Amino acid sequence: MEFVRSASSLKPQCKLGPRTQLNLISSVLDGNFIYGSDSETADKLRAFVDGQLKSTPVFRKYGLKDLLPLKLDNPDDGCIRATPDTYCFQAGDPRVNEQLVLSVTHILLMREHNRMAAELAALNPHWSDETTYQETRHIMAALIQQITYNEFLPMVLGKDIMAKFSLILERHGYFEGYDATADPSLPASFTAAAFRFGHSLLPSTVERWSTSHKYIGAQRLSQMLRQPYDLYKVIIILVTSITRDVIEYYVLYLGWLLRPVHRRTHEPSVARNGRLHVTGGDQSLVPGLGQELGIGSGRFEHAERSRPRHPLVQCLP
Ligand code: HEM
Repeated sequence: MEFVRSASSLKPQCKLGPRTQLNLISSVLDGNFIYGSDSETADKLRAFVDGQLKSTPVFRKYGLKDLLPLKLDNPDDGCIRATPDTYCFQAGDPRVNEQLVLSVTHILLMREHNRMAAELAALNPHWSDETTYQETRHIMAALIQQITYNEFLPMVLGKDIMAKFSLILERHGYFEGYDATADPSLPASFTAAAFRFGHSLLPSTVERWSTSHKYIGAQRLSQMLRQPYDLYKVIIILVTSITRDVIEYYVLYLGWLLRPVHRRTHEPSVARNGRLHVTGGDQSLVPGLGQELGIGSGRFEHAERSRPRHPLVQCLP
């Protein structure tokens, strides 16, 4: 199995010891996947007009919303391109094209930023592009934190664990426990092992449902990896948006009634990702992961925090 080894990095306090990984992504919940983890990426994604992010207006003539900007620099990185004039998308995180549903989520967040920036700019005509951008970015980061703590974590951890670790959001007032000195960087055991639990949630097929909860169709996840080109197919979008009420009701709903009860099989993706987890855990020095699962070598003793970008800077006197 092809598996690319993670780049190694210096350890906390620049001590000698087992290999640790370089982490290119900011560890704080600041919407970095929308804006990037460094100012160069952030600037590339900005329109520098009214606080807006760049977008591609391919569907404006149909009255539909924009897609993400195209990935014109290094277009083959993380993207399977059938022809030289086919492009994937650009966002704050290089994994935006990993699979189509992730690309869709990125599009929604870019559009939400632009919607909110337009509203803020209209309410505050005296604001500069910079102020509108930064204020919108703040609110988007708060939105991501709200989704993470109020919606995602309760589903993953359950109420008891949320309460045990004081993760439940305040209903009134403000959180007073912010600690500016806390190190938010992630331990290798979290990035290389624990948080990969998400892979075992993945279905083999991705279903497409309409906004009125009617089944439209399904596609294998494996066909959606690194090729988000269905997003360009205006016919799919038009069918599922403009004419959906008519077509869905008379054709798709009937088809849904007639088809056999759908059974999702999780096994193939779990098995494949189980192997990826063990290989990733081994190379990231996560102790005993392979032993736990009865595969892999599990030969490493220690795991350390993956370090933020530019680790050398931290070792300068
Ligand atoms: C269709 C959805 C997904 C696909 C195709 C996918 C694919 C990948 C790939 C190719 C890698 C790099 C190879 C590896 O190190 O194993 C990776 C790493 C990882 N994935 Fe996913 N993934 C998906 C969903 C998720 C979800 C839902 C989560 C967590 C909730 C998740 C968490 C992780 C983590 C923590 C890593 C390791 C990152 C690192 O150490 O740098 N993935 N994923």
